[in-house]
Amino acid sequence: MKINSKELRKTWLNYYEEKGHLNIGAVSLIGDGSTGVMFNVAGMQPLMPYLLGEKHPSGKTRLCNVQGCVRTVDIDSVGDQSHLTFFEMMGNWSLGDYFKKEKTKWTFDLLTKVFGLDKNKICSTVFAGDDSAPRDEETAKLLEDLGIKKENIYFLPKSDNWWELEGTVGTPCGPDNEWFYPLHDKPCSKNCDINCKCGRYVEIGNDVYMQYKKTKTGYEPLANKNVDTGFGFERVLMFLNGYTDVYKTDLFSDVIEYMSKVCGKEYDTEEESTKAMRIVADHMRTTVMLIGDPNGIVPSNTGSGYVLRRLMRRAIRYSKTLGLTAEDLCKIACIYIDDVYKEAYPLLTEKKDYILSEITKEINKFETMLVQGTKEFEKVVSGIARKNEFMSKSNPNYVPEKQISGKQAFRLYETFGFPVEMTVEMANELGLDVDMEGYQKAFEEHQELARSVAAGVNKGGLAGQGEMETKYHTATHIMLAGLRKMFGENTVQHGSNITAERMRFDFNLDRKMSDEEIKQLEDFVNNAISRKLTVTRLEMPYKEALASGAYGIYNGKPDEIVSVYVIGDVDRQICGGPHVKNTEVLGKFKILKEQSSSSGIRRIKAILE
Ligand code: ALA
Repeated sequence: MKINSKELRKTWLNYYEEKGHLNIGAVSLIGDGSTGVMFNVAGMQPLMPYLLGEKHPSGKTRLCNVQGCVRTVDIDSVGDQSHLTFFEMMGNWSLGDYFKKEKTKWTFDLLTKVFGLDKNKICSTVFAGDDSAPRDEETAKLLEDLGIKKENIYFLPKSDNWWELEGTVGTPCGPDNEWFYPLHDKPCSKNCDINCKCGRYVEIGNDVYMQYKKTKTGYEPLANKNVDTGFGFERVLMFLNGYTDVYKTDLFSDVIEYMSKVCGKEYDTEEESTKAMRIVADHMRTTVMLIGDPNGIVPSNTGSGYVLRRLMRRAIRYSKTLGLTAEDLCKIACIYIDDVYKEAYPLLTEKKDYILSEITKEINKFETMLVQGTKEFEKVVSGIARKNEFMSKSNPNYVPEKQISGKQAFRLYETFGFPVEMTVEMANELGLDVDMEGYQKAFEEHQELARSVAAGVNKGGLAGQGEMETKYHTATHIMLAGLRKMFGENTVQHGSNITAERMRFDFNLDRKMSDEEIKQLEDFVNNAISRKLTVTRLEMPYKEALASGAYGIYNGKPDEIVSVYVIGDVDRQICGGPHVKNTEVLGKFKILKEQSSSSGIRRIKAILE
C-alpha cells in the first residue's frame, strides 16, 4: 500500500473518530517538568493524570491524536536509516472504557482492512507473565479468534512486553501487545522470526493495557483498566510504502533532494554524505519543532535549551561537510514549515520569521566559537601526534597515545564553549577518543574550586529548614538559572546564605550589573513563579545527571546516585534540597542590593514579598 504522510494522519484520526474517539490534538513537545523529563517522550505522557483516574476535561473516555515526541537519548544513532530525535505517535486511548476485546479487533481491522496486510503474516506478542502481572492468555485467545495464526503469537517476558516510562514512579503502566509484520517473504534462515536480528520483521505499533501504577517497590492495580495505543507515525509510513529508510518518505524527501542538489551528491550512494544528510534533515526538523512549539524554547546552556543547542550545532557541523550555508539551513527549515507540516502544525507558519531568526542567530554564535575552538582542537590533536612521533623514535615499544585527556576536553569546553560531545565526535573521526572520566573529574575540580570559596553550599547555606528558608532556596536556584542565562554557564555559585528573612548569593562576574540587568533578572524569577512550575526531585547516577543537562556542585564518582531538582523548564540542578513543590508559593521576588563581594565576585541580596 502506498500512502503519503498527510493521508496517513487523516486515516488514523478518521478511523478512531468513527469509533467514538475525540481527537484531542497534539500538545506542546516541552514537558512541564512534572515527570522529570524535558520533552514529551510518548503520546500518553500528557494524558497521565487521566490514565491514573482523573476525569478528562472533555468528559470523554475515548480519545485519539497524533502527538509529537522528542527523544534525544539516541542522538548518536541518528544518521542510520531509522533513528529520529523528533517523531510523531499516532495514539488512541480508552480511559476505563473499552478493553482488550475491542482493542484487539480494532487494531486487527486497521491492519488488515485499512492497511491491507495479510492476516496470515501478522505476528503478535503478548506478556508471558511474572510477579508483576499474570500471563496474558486473554489477549492471545482474542488474537487467535480474530484469525492470527497460533504459531504467530509469541509470549515474551517483561523486557519485551511491558510498557512503562523509565525511571519514574507513580506513573501508569502495564503489559502490552505488540504487532509485527514481515517486510518481505524471504526469511534469512529457518529460524527467521520476530526475534531475528535480520530486520525482516518490523514492529508497527503496540497496545498497552494500562492497569497498574508503578510504585517504589512494585506495581499496584489502578481503579480503571485503560488502553494506551501507540503507532509510530514515521515508522508506519515507511513500512506501508515498502521503504526501509525513513528518509525516503515524503516527510523528508524534499529536504533530502534539496541537500543532494546543493552538494552534488546523490542520496544513498555514499556512506558519509548520506549520514550527514540524515543528521541535518533530522536535527533541523526537531529544531523547527522545538523553537516553533507553543511553549517554544531557544538554544541556551542549560536544560532543554542545551539539548536544542547541541542538536543545532551538530546539524550545522554536518551541513558544512555537505557545503551547505546558513541560507541553505533556513531553506530546509522553510520546507518543513511551508510544506511538510503546514497543515498539521499551523503555528509554525505563524512563528516562521521568529524560527528563522533564531536559527540564524545560533549559526552566527556557533561560527564565532567554531573558528577558535576548532583551532584549539587541532592544536590538541597535533600535540598528541607530535608526542607519539617523538616517543616512538626513542622507544620502539612505545604504544601511541590515542586519547584526548579529560583536562584538555574540559579546557575546550570551559574556555571555548566547545561541547564535550563535539570533541568526542571530532576525536572519533580521527580515530581518537576522549577520557570522559577525566573530563568529569576536571569538571568536578572546577566546581570544587568554586565550592571552596563558598560559605557552605545548599545544605550548609541553609540556616534552618523552615518553610521560608525552603522558599528562598528554590528562589536561589531560579535566580542562578537566570544569571547563567544572562552571563553564560560559567557563572557559578560562590556562596549562599539564607535566613527566614532574605537570601544572599555570591557569584562570579567581573563587573557591576546594570539596573536593566537587575530588572531583567527579577523578571526572570517572577516569570518562573507566575508560570507555576512544578519542582521535581529525581535520583540518577551523577554522570547521567550531567548528561541530562543538570549542573551543580558535587564531588562524587560518575556512578554515584545524586539527587537532581528540576524546576519546570527553567533549572536542573544537582542538589540535596529541600525545595518547594511548585514555584507558585514563592510570592514576589525582589532584589534589594547588588554589590561587590570580593574581586570578580558579586553579591546579591534579595527577598520574597
Ligand atoms: N505508550 C506506548 C508507547 O509509547 C503506547 O509505545
